[in-house]
Amino acid sequence: MSAIIAIRQGHAGDIPALVSLLAQLFAIEADFAIDPEVQARGLELLRSRADAVILVAEAQGRVVGMCTVQLTASTARGGLSAGIEDVVVDETLRGRGIGRALLAAAEAWARRRGAVRIALLADETNLLALDFYDRLGFTRTRLVWLAKALD
Ligand SMILES: CC(C)(COP(=O)(O)OP(=O)(O)OC[C@H]1O[C@@H](n2cnc3c(N)ncnc32)[C@H](O)[C@@H]1OP(=O)(O)O)[C@@H](O)C(=O)NCCC(=O)NCCS
Repeated sequence: MSAIIAIRQGHAGDIPALVSLLAQLFAIEADFAIDPEVQARGLELLRSRADAVILVAEAQGRVVGMCTVQLTASTARGGLSAGIEDVVVDETLRGRGIGRALLAAAEAWARRRGAVRIALLADETNLLALDFYDRLGFTRTRLVWLAKALD
């Protein structure tokens, strides 16, 4: 397949393909579990929010990559911060610039909304992804992600 791609906002019809991509991502992230129903619910929630976006990479009419972006207010920066999640490119099409294009679109979306920072979390064992973000200009922080389930 050609790597000629379009980056666009995700719509309801993309959800099955996005759920499959998330399964590829969560298969390598020990903190998360693959559950198509849960992932579809999360994607619908993102679609319903004005301060969030699902970005989709499409090649020859097929969804081949995705990331999501959400805005939060940062007291540290006195402005909006954009959080990127769900970054994944179909395993058959990696290394062709699709991830870079998705992250550029995420950054552009955040800038258009006035965000002063863009940030993301990565699994510390995912050295390939850490290399990828390094090339895209992200720097590591000393913060550690802590979480507690409320359901
Ligand atoms: C990480 C991922 C999204 C990168 O997408 P991609 O389309 O393969 O990356 P690109 O082809 O756009 O590469 C962009 C840059 O990162 C580098 N890069 C990409 N994959 C790399 C790898 N495996 N090792 C080292 N560098 C890598 C490329 O060399 C390129 O650098 P350059 O443009 O300066 O030459 C993709 O490999 C993926 O889906 N991985 C599995 C899911 C995952 O780990 N997601 C991140 C969760 S935090």
